[in-house]
Amino acid sequence: MNVKPDFSKGKNYAETAPAFLSVWEMQAYYGESYIVQGISFNVHEGEILALLGRNGAGKTTTLRAIARMDSPQMNHGEVWLDHQALHNMKSHEAAAAGIALVPEDRCIIPGLTVEENLELAQIAPPVGWSIDRLYELFPRLAERRRQEGVTLSGGEQQMLAVARALARDIKVLLLDEPYEGLAPVIVDEIEKTLRLIKEQGITTILVEQNAVRALELADRAVILDTGSIVFDGSASEVLENEELRAEYLAI
Ligand SMILES: Nc1ncnc2c1ncn2[C@@H]1O[C@H](COP(=O)(O)OP(=O)(O)OP(=O)(O)O)[C@@H](O)[C@H]1O
Ligand SMILES: [Mg+2]
Repeated sequence: MNVKPDFSKGKNYAETAPAFLSVWEMQAYYGESYIVQGISFNVHEGEILALLGRNGAGKTTTLRAIARMDSPQMNHGEVWLDHQALHNMKSHEAAAAGIALVPEDRCIIPGLTVEENLELAQIAPPVGWSIDRLYELFPRLAERRRQEGVTLSGGEQQMLAVARALARDIKVLLLDEPYEGLAPVIVDEIEKTLRLIKEQGITTILVEQNAVRALELADRAVILDTGSIVFDGSASEVLENEELRAEYLAI
């Protein structure tokens, strides 16, 4: 059950904050198209939440609205991160507040090496993990530090995109289909890294078409269907519920 965050008590907000990240009655539009239709869910500190649903359900739109991108337009609702009102922010302010969106296309910057991509992420404070620490987490990136980022394999580019997010001091990682187009053995590698990142206390929302893999990693799951939430509960519950999987995830 979601409870509307109530910060009216000033310093006592910790008593009323329902969760680390709280989405409340969010509605999002692309122009006239009503896509995210009043969704509410919570993400607890340090957990991995799988955000699932069929193609076009509104998963990417939800992540973009949380990250406060210019589109979609969030016309109604609230988003709170660690007592900060994200819904009043622009994307650069949300980024400074601790939101990191790793988009599906990974957005590696052309013309820059792996290391330059990481350095660029650290150009302004707040700086997160050191480059040495990132290379410990991603030894493949260390080996390829002088290689141009866009020439990396798909899996390596995904690692670079995640590393770049962690190069900044973030509170929540929003991952849009990190396993897309990757061989199972590379998915294993990225999954292992996501577990290590979780152990470091980072909170993650994981959007994935590969629902089984996402559910095996996640603590909880939210399932979207045409812009509304049809399930909010534990990840294992979805794995065990054949009906739910067949109806909304086609697995
Ligand atoms: N820029 C846009 N302008 C207009 N409509 C859009 C735009 N982006 C997405 N949509 C529409 O919004 C709906 C939700 O799209 P969204 O990308 O959020 O789905 P998704 O759940 O991420 O799907 P997928 O699994 O295919 O990535 C779809 O009907 C899509 O066509
Ligand atoms: Mg999407």
